[in-house]
Amino acid sequence: MPNAYISGTGFHVPEDVVSNDELSKRYGIDTSHEWIEKRTGIEARRFAPAGVGTSDLAVPAVEMALERAGLAKTDIGMIIFATLSPDHAFPGSGVYLQTKLGLTDDGVGHFVGCLDVRNQCSGFLYGLATAASMVQSGSVDNIVVVGAEVHSAALDLSTAGRDVASLFGDGAGVVIVSATDEDRGVRSWHLGADGRHADALSQKIWDISKRPFIPQNEDGVGQVDPAHMYARMAGRLVFKNAIERMIGALMKEFQKQSLTLDDVDLFFFHQANLRINQYVATQLGIPDNKLFHNIERYGNTTAATIPIMLAEAQGEGRLERGMKITTVAFGSGFTWGAAIIDW
Ligand SMILES: CC(C)(COP(=O)(O)OP(=O)(O)OC[C@H]1O[C@@H](n2cnc3c(N)ncnc32)[C@H](O)[C@@H]1OP(=O)(O)O)[C@@H](O)C(=O)NCCC(=O)NCCS
Repeated sequence: MPNAYISGTGFHVPEDVVSNDELSKRYGIDTSHEWIEKRTGIEARRFAPAGVGTSDLAVPAVEMALERAGLAKTDIGMIIFATLSPDHAFPGSGVYLQTKLGLTDDGVGHFVGCLDVRNQCSGFLYGLATAASMVQSGSVDNIVVVGAEVHSAALDLSTAGRDVASLFGDGAGVVIVSATDEDRGVRSWHLGADGRHADALSQKIWDISKRPFIPQNEDGVGQVDPAHMYARMAGRLVFKNAIERMIGALMKEFQKQSLTLDDVDLFFFHQANLRINQYVATQLGIPDNKLFHNIERYGNTTAATIPIMLAEAQGEGRLERGMKITTVAFGSGFTWGAAIIDW
């Protein structure tokens, strides 16, 4: 049975940097840099321009990952695309990405499977676990795992929506999970969910149980209630559960692998709130220099967060062959996950 390792990483973020002050200046939101930075650690985020969809952001990120892996587009055996802000309700973003990469062009005809993952902030880890299992089964040699989001289009950029709007940003991150006979790669993973809190962080833009599923006015014109158009969040409940579940997922993985914290070189925590991560790190005794973070520059990029961090860390030379890394995420659902990887 082959091992499944990360052969390449890539990322892409839009050019437009929106600082905390810009949220007030540009959109008139009653907020301040001090409020946001103190509670979340966020200083800025990136917003994609109109006309750019989620799969568009993923294209340059895949190209970077392929180049770093030394692979060609036609080496891709499967695409797994994690996002909560897909280009469209359906089909998934994976098939759009496949076409934008040129894999369906005449003469190329590389009709690989495309799977979308709908697990929000832990979507990348659900995708990674799926990819690693597929590669380890010997069925596929190279799987592109994407996390990409265009949140900015679906944020309530007004004072009423400031609790959510100040947290999220756009971006794409990619890893390529490849087969190897070498003694390295994804060692173990843990996934969990607690559907009792499904409504605590949700965007109910439509309700498929209703007839019609998007409400219409008396003229039969579809209208989405602004309360349902944007994500809503019970912030404190999310905060509390994030801490409990991240610690629980990490402890499970450490036990399974008989590891201590000293065995791990670098930790990649999902970037929802720097204060959540600092609390988890303090509780577990993880020193600052082992904790990679980029929330100050990008905010929460949901499924894209962990692969962007991995790509940045690799670009900065902080990931070396033989290092042991741990990654953990928590988000809407509630869903969570963790993985241990020998680089
Ligand atoms: C969002 C979060 C920072 C809010 O902090 P909080 O201390 O819980 O703040 P509250 O939501 O209780 O709001 C307190 C006040 O600040 C206000 N407020 C919220 N966002 C604000 C902002 N961006 N700027 C200024 N004031 C803001 C609220 O309106 C509220 O005002 P009120 O008391 O007059 O009603 C915090 O709950 C959090 O980080 N939760 C987890 C979020 C998360 O991780 N989400 C993603 C999961 S993947």
